[in-house]
Amino acid sequence: MRSCRHRYGDRFTVTLSQRVGPIVFFSSPDALQVILGGEDSELFDAPGELNALVEPLLGPQSLMGLSGSRHRRMRQLLMPSFHGERMRSYGQLIRDITEEVMSELVAGNVFPVRKAMQKISMRVILRAVFGLNQGPRYQELERLLGAMLDRMSNPFSLSALFFPMLRQDFGPLSPWGQFVRNREQVDRLIYDEIAERRNHPDASRNDILTLLLSARDEAGEALTDPELRDELMTLLVAGHETTATALTWALYWIYKLPTVREKLLRELQAVSGPLDPGVLFRLPYLNAICSETLRIYPVGLLTFPRVTRARVELKGSVLEPGTVVAGCIYLAHHREEVYPDPDEFIPERFLERRYSPFEYLPFGGGVRRCIGMAFAQFEMKLVISSILSSVELALADTRSARPVRRGLTSGPSPIRMMVK
Ligand code: HEM
Repeated sequence: MRSCRHRYGDRFTVTLSQRVGPIVFFSSPDALQVILGGEDSELFDAPGELNALVEPLLGPQSLMGLSGSRHRRMRQLLMPSFHGERMRSYGQLIRDITEEVMSELVAGNVFPVRKAMQKISMRVILRAVFGLNQGPRYQELERLLGAMLDRMSNPFSLSALFFPMLRQDFGPLSPWGQFVRNREQVDRLIYDEIAERRNHPDASRNDILTLLLSARDEAGEALTDPELRDELMTLLVAGHETTATALTWALYWIYKLPTVREKLLRELQAVSGPLDPGVLFRLPYLNAICSETLRIYPVGLLTFPRVTRARVELKGSVLEPGTVVAGCIYLAHHREEVYPDPDEFIPERFLERRYSPFEYLPFGGGVRRCIGMAFAQFEMKLVISSILSSVELALADTRSARPVRRGLTSGPSPIRMMVK
């Protein structure tokens, strides 16, 4: 992307997959404002069909694959699960899980940071989504989902998403065969959980599944079992890897840069009384570190594709109806005029300036903006502050980490740390 921008300027066209065809990349704030702008942009559609890539994993009813009014309806049903009070009720849970996972580490031992962060984010999302925290079903789900998502980040499985002809089930030992069997096992557990909850409703629970079981759309309709399965799977997949990656990067920067770490420790120590989740959420330097982490190497490099509804003139070029475009989050976050020294990790920039939603967009924007945005930010802050307040860590390698591709997202090359 950097070399394309260098060679062709702000706007360039790339073919990432034959199925979607050429995509025009944009990264200037004024172009992104037009593309992502209003909640119901008249110029651009955000068709779910272009995200069909994720269908084998998430299912045909997944929010990511829906378009138009069906997409709007599903967002309305899902959004309340991620609002203020409800989200804050997960605060203690996130702290407990972090302490649980960190206490499994042994002093003096070196550990892969991503593995520990994946464990935390998987447990957080499983408990927030299902309210499950023990028992054989929870353990099975944790194991099977972990295996399935790990598999999805290897190049073959990823290719199978891009090229449907590779989706051949040659038995349980073939890669696609393994994936299909794995998915069937996960589905069985999810459907069992849904059935049990329908048979024994408990309104006092505060997990997302409980909320979705009682949710009704404008026509008074409830979600069907297959709809529930696909949305639960979507939240588990979208909320697990992304947050684990963001946490891994954040710890890397904090332990790579002593001045950043010292400043953060001073801020945390200055909080009087227990570290209340509500107080933590508003700490300026902690917020700046999380923001800078998602700026310098955004987990999602691109927004989902959008398509022109009519002929659109944008930044001096004419886009015919049906042109596929994407917001390039990575390049938007590396514009020298917006972020001086864009390749440097400088949290202070977020204390000195407010950025518009088209200059800073790690969660995309408009009708498909990430629904887990507040949840992910909340989780990052709680996990980081819990780790810094409870264990002493150090990077085990002096080499710098670099961003590498991980499935459909981007994340750091392996980072190892040591518990001091
Ligand atoms: C640091 C963590 C995360 C990052 C960086 C991230 C980033 C993104 C981005 C870039 C998009 C595309 C937005 C667009 O096209 O405009 C997206 C969509 C989405 N995200 Fe996230 N995300 C994160 C965490 C989460 C979490 C925790 C959840 C749920 C629990 C979640 C659920 C979703 C869903 C369901 C969509 C699709 C929305 C739609 O199609 O309407 N994400 N995310």
